[in-house]
Amino acid sequence: MTDPMAGEEKPHVHPSILKVIEQKKRIREKLSSIKNKVGVYSAKGGVGKTTTAVNLAHALSAMGHSVGILDADIDCPNVCMFLGIDQRLSGEMPIVPVEKNGIKVLSTAMFVDDEKRPIIWRGPMIGKMVSEFLENADWGALDYLIIDLPPGTSDSPLSLIQLLDLKGFVIVTTPQHIAAVNAIRSGMMAKRLGVAILGVVENMSDGSRKGGHEVSEALGCDMLGMIRNDAMIGSISDSGRIPVLEDKAIMEEYMRIAEKIVG
Ligand SMILES: Nc1ncnc2c1ncn2[C@@H]1O[C@H](COP(=O)(O)OP(=O)(O)OP(=O)(O)O)[C@@H](O)[C@H]1O
Ligand SMILES: [Mg+2]
Repeated sequence: MTDPMAGEEKPHVHPSILKVIEQKKRIREKLSSIKNKVGVYSAKGGVGKTTTAVNLAHALSAMGHSVGILDADIDCPNVCMFLGIDQRLSGEMPIVPVEKNGIKVLSTAMFVDDEKRPIIWRGPMIGKMVSEFLENADWGALDYLIIDLPPGTSDSPLSLIQLLDLKGFVIVTTPQHIAAVNAIRSGMMAKRLGVAILGVVENMSDGSRKGGHEVSEALGCDMLGMIRNDAMIGSISDSGRIPVLEDKAIMEEYMRIAEKIVG
């Protein structure tokens, strides 16, 4: 085939941009057998992103989907504690996710010997770790990869948005105005970068749906569901067990959320 640009001066693309494009291509091929990648996100810390990610993953699994969880909270990874995983990985390639309750899980916590040891990295290292996970992990075929994001609007979410074709983000808020404002911030960033918002979950809900409504109105997205503020959810999670596997009502609420995401 003749080159349509033969004889013309080709546009100059900086090598670092070419590198990212190449990397994205490799990652896309590597993850081509994962049907849906869903991020669980809010710029606000402590609102229940990890709780949502872990319980949503189990609800999807209970519905018969094959599911993985990627802990993209690189410097403060919590997914292993929530799932009661103490298995460690050697760093051998390819990285094989650890399986728990039929769900494949990958976290930086699996690469440090002591979970209390701080992982002190600057932004570029965090982005690099996210791309390492995406390029080198052997997830196999999955219906859903749930990605637990850290708070903030920088390194991890940006790397994921840049490198993955996400189905979209589930935004988490609590009823409080401050949480809602920060959740809106995350949603706006996602929208600006062309990522869909699948909807909002109001966690630690007092039943008022105030925070959830504020976010859904500002972002023009659905309210996916409401998880009540219940000390039992905290204490079950704290002991490395999964609330949806122990409480029928909680499972039903997460299943309703999961059904909307699937739909
Ligand atoms: N609905 C709930 N009711 C009671 N406690 C909850 C609920 N949801 C989460 N928690 C508890 O609140 C704490 C924070 O939740 P979680 O770690 O999921 O938040 P996060 O948004 O992931 O935090 P971070 O920003 O640090 O990643 C945890 O101890 C968790 O068990
Ligand atoms: Mg978290």
